[in-house]
Amino acid sequence: MTKKITFKVQNGGLLRGEARVAGDKSMSHRSIMLGSLAEGVTHVTGFLEAEDALATLQAFRDMGVEIERTGDGCVTIHGVGKHGLKAPQAPLYLGNSGTSMRLLSGLLAGQAFNSVLTGDESLSKRPMKRVTEPLAQMGADIKTTEKGTAPLEITGRAGQLTGIDYVMPMASAQVKSCLLLAGMYAQGETKVTEPAPTRDHTERMLTGFGYPVSVNKNQASITANGRLTAMTIDVPSDISSAAFFLVGASIAPNSDVLLKHVGINPTRTGVIDILRLMGANIEILNEHTVGGEPVADLHVTSCQLKGIEIPEHLVPLAIDEFPVLFIAAACAEGETRLTGAEELRVKESDRIQVMADGLQILGVNAQPTSDGMIIQGGEIGGGTVESHGDHRIAMAFAIAGLRAIAPITILDCANVNTSFPEFKELATNLGLQLSSEED
Ligand code: S3P
Repeated sequence: MTKKITFKVQNGGLLRGEARVAGDKSMSHRSIMLGSLAEGVTHVTGFLEAEDALATLQAFRDMGVEIERTGDGCVTIHGVGKHGLKAPQAPLYLGNSGTSMRLLSGLLAGQAFNSVLTGDESLSKRPMKRVTEPLAQMGADIKTTEKGTAPLEITGRAGQLTGIDYVMPMASAQVKSCLLLAGMYAQGETKVTEPAPTRDHTERMLTGFGYPVSVNKNQASITANGRLTAMTIDVPSDISSAAFFLVGASIAPNSDVLLKHVGINPTRTGVIDILRLMGANIEILNEHTVGGEPVADLHVTSCQLKGIEIPEHLVPLAIDEFPVLFIAAACAEGETRLTGAEELRVKESDRIQVMADGLQILGVNAQPTSDGMIIQGGEIGGGTVESHGDHRIAMAFAIAGLRAIAPITILDCANVNTSFPEFKELATNLGLQLSSEED
C-alpha cells in the first residue's frame, strides 16, 4: 500500500526566485517508447524521474529492452528495433498513467506476442474504448471489461493490421498517438484527423528518429515503411508543471519567478494565452529550439487577474492546466467561464467536480457545468479539501494557499509523485509555506 500523504499549506506569502521544473511527461514517455523501437543507443537527458514515466520505462524493460538510468534525468536506451520487443512475462502494470496505457495499446496491437495492461484504481476507471474501438477497425484484438476499462488483454496481430482513415470524435493526443503507433505495423496508410489541435510530440519525435510521418493541417498519417534511428533527446521542463508557478506568481502579490528551459510547443501553451487574457505578466525569454521542440525561459510577476470567458479553441492546448487555472479564476476580479471542456471529467479524476467541490469548501462560488465551470472571483478561505488522488488537483490547491486567508489541508497527495516529485521542494524554495505529513 502506498503511504497517504497530506499537504498542509500556510496561507499567504509570495514566490520569488529561479527554478527548473521537472521534465516534460509526454516527451519522457515517448522518448522511452521510440528509443526502444530505434536501432542503436538513444541518450535522453531531462527525463522525468516520476512514477508515470517510470511505469513506461519499466514496461519496456519487461519487454526485453535494456535501459540504464542514473537517477538524474539521464537515461540510455539500447534500442531493439521496430520488431525487437519480446513478450512480457507478466501483465504490464502502468500505475496511474493514461498515456502509457493508451499509447501502448496501439503499439502492442500489432506485435507478434500477447500482452495484458493493468493500472491503479484511477486508471482502471478511465475510458479505453476511445482507443480499442478504432484499433478494432484496424483489425486489432483487445478485450476490455464490460465498462470499456482496463485490464486490456491484447492478442498480438502481427502482419494483420490494416490502416484506417479515422476522424477522432474528441481532441485527444493519446488517441492520435495510439493510432499512429499502431499504423507503424499496419498495411497501407493510417490517417488520423483531429477536431482541434492537440500536442504533437509523437509526430515531432518520430520525425527526429527519422521515421516518416506526414502532417497536413489537422491530419497526421503514417505507414509501416520506415525505421527509427537512435538519437539524443533533451527533454525540456514540463509547461504543465511550470503552470503551478505561473499561476502562483501571478496571484501572490510581489512575486517574481523565472522558470528555466520550459517546453513552449504551441500545442501546449494555452495556459500562457489564457493567463495573459486574464491580464497576467508573463514574458517569454531566450526562445530557442532543442531537438525539434521550442523551449524558453518564462518570467512571471504578480498582477491582479481579471475574469474572462475562456476561448474554447484554447481548451485542448491547456487541457492539463485547468485545476490551477481554476485557482487563478478564484483570485480574479469578476467571473470566469469555461465551456467545451467535458474531457476534464475523464482525467485522473473528474476534474470539474473535484475542483468545484474543493473550491466550494474554501468558500469560492464555483458552479460546475457538464462541460466546464463558472467561477466568481473573490476571497479564498481555509479548510480541508480532497484531491481524490489526482496529482494536479493536489498541487493546484497547494498554490491556492498563497492567496487564502487561512491554512489549507489537502488530502491524498501521494500521486504528486506521478508527475512532479520535486514539487514540494521547489515550491518551498520559491516561498510557498508547504509541509507534508505521511501516514
Ligand atoms: C497526453 C495527452 C492528454 C493529456 C495527458 C498527456 C499525452 O490526454 O491530458 O496528460 O501525452 O498524449 P488526452 O489525449 O486524453 O487529451
